[in-house]
Amino acid sequence: MIAFVVAMDKNGVIGKDGALPWHYPKDLKHFKELTLNHRVLMGRKTYDSIIQQLGKPLPKRENIVLTTQDKIFKGAKVIHDLKSYLETIPKEVPLYIIGGKTVYEAALPYVDRLYITHIEKAYEGDTYFPKLDYSQFNLIDKKTDEALIFAVYKRKAAAHD
Ligand SMILES: NC(=O)c1ccc[n+]([C@@H]2O[C@H](COP(=O)([O-])OP(=O)(O)OC[C@H]3O[C@@H](n4cnc5c(N)ncnc54)[C@H](OP(=O)(O)O)[C@@H]3O)[C@@H](O)[C@H]2O)c1
Repeated sequence: MIAFVVAMDKNGVIGKDGALPWHYPKDLKHFKELTLNHRVLMGRKTYDSIIQQLGKPLPKRENIVLTTQDKIFKGAKVIHDLKSYLETIPKEVPLYIIGGKTVYEAALPYVDRLYITHIEKAYEGDTYFPKLDYSQFNLIDKKTDEALIFAVYKRKAAAHD
């Protein structure tokens, strides 16, 4: 199962100046509950922003960084070829793709499930979630908590289920 985990505002903003434009502890808790003890795949810039924030990669998760660079990223496994990685990982192993925009965009054809936190506000930002054809997905769960809607979408003809 390949899943995206993302929080976006009402206009699809996901980032600003290399970081999140907001701070929602309830969304961070949701993110942690979903991804703990699993594999998380991220672009190098998202890895950098996590290091900036926490001083270390996400704890108790297998951190995988997508980069073109030939260097070591502390506490993370490095991959250079997203397509072959996604095509060869065992289907029974859940993989949580946690951004950013470039990785969501490239992995879109492979994703089975979307965990989207819709934030019902508008923020200033410079990074947007890619255009998504929601008609290819069924909404299978939805919980509202003040300005946050925690939604789960499942691909209609799941490629990897
Ligand atoms: N709201 C959310 O849920 C959420 C989630 C994640 C991130 N974000 C935000 O999104 C922003 C970062 O997103 P972003 O799109 O700018 O960056 P990103 O996707 O995190 O990282 C981009 C980098 O990933 C590597 N990369 C991407 N595609 C690749 C490919 N096909 N092959 C090899 N390497 C590849 C490259 O690294 P190299 O330059 O090292 O080669 C590229 O510069 C930040 O503001 C962050 O806070 C928001």
